[in-house]
Amino acid sequence: MNYTIDLKQLQKRNHQSREIEPEYLQESTERFKALLAQIGYEQRNSELYAALCKYAGMLSTKATVKGLALLGALGIGKSWGAESLAHFTRTKFVTASELVTAYEQGGVSELLEVAIPFKLGFESDPEDLIIDEVGREPQSATHYGTKLNVIEEVLRRRYIQWERHGARTIITSNAFLRRDSRQLDKPSIESLYGDDIADRVQQMCNVPQIGGCDLRQ
Ligand SMILES: Nc1ncnc2c1ncn2[C@@H]1O[C@H](COP(=O)(O)OP(=O)(O)OP(=O)(O)O)[C@@H](O)[C@H]1O
Ligand SMILES: [Mg+2]
Repeated sequence: MNYTIDLKQLQKRNHQSREIEPEYLQESTERFKALLAQIGYEQRNSELYAALCKYAGMLSTKATVKGLALLGALGIGKSWGAESLAHFTRTKFVTASELVTAYEQGGVSELLEVAIPFKLGFESDPEDLIIDEVGREPQSATHYGTKLNVIEEVLRRRYIQWERHGARTIITSNAFLRRDSRQLDKPSIESLYGDDIADRVQQMCNVPQIGGCDLRQ
């Protein structure tokens, strides 16, 4: 293992967003809107719809170096939107529970195969990843007696890959980012995984405001 610091890696740490021609970005956004219309995803929650369209364009054109955290109430269409994003941007999609299962079945090595996928043939080029339903997974997983908060570990490692290589992470969750002292019963990334992880999510992801009500009713 090489423990010396690589200057090139350090330069990469503050990946600058690319300047994209507005027309190119607009065209990408329009193509995503067409995809949503095609699959019957309606504009029923305007904030979520706007965020999805904005970031689909920015993610696919690499106009943003950050990933995306879609944090919002139950049933507002986050997962469906995230699946559409996965299809549009050709990004791997996994649920938080599937990551827990990977750990329970094959330990950290199997977990990392799913959580830090590499571009085919490029061991130093990790891919973007969408993790759906963060916070809904079992909080403590065990592999041969070794307990792990799987998503805490995954988010920590995804942050390192983002810092080093610019691999972006997109998550959906019902949890707030921060603990709310007026609503202590509501889950938050901070209460589930620690304030250091909430900081990392805030740094590596765009976190748009998303309101809206349950569309399952
Ligand atoms: N934009 C939309 N247009 C039409 N129907 C929608 C839309 N968004 C969601 N729905 C309906 O609501 C259901 C719930 O959507 P989805 O599972 O994506 O919500 P969610 O925010 O991920 O929910 P949860 O918080 O429980 O994970 C969908 O199966 C669909 O029937
Ligand atoms: Mg969901």
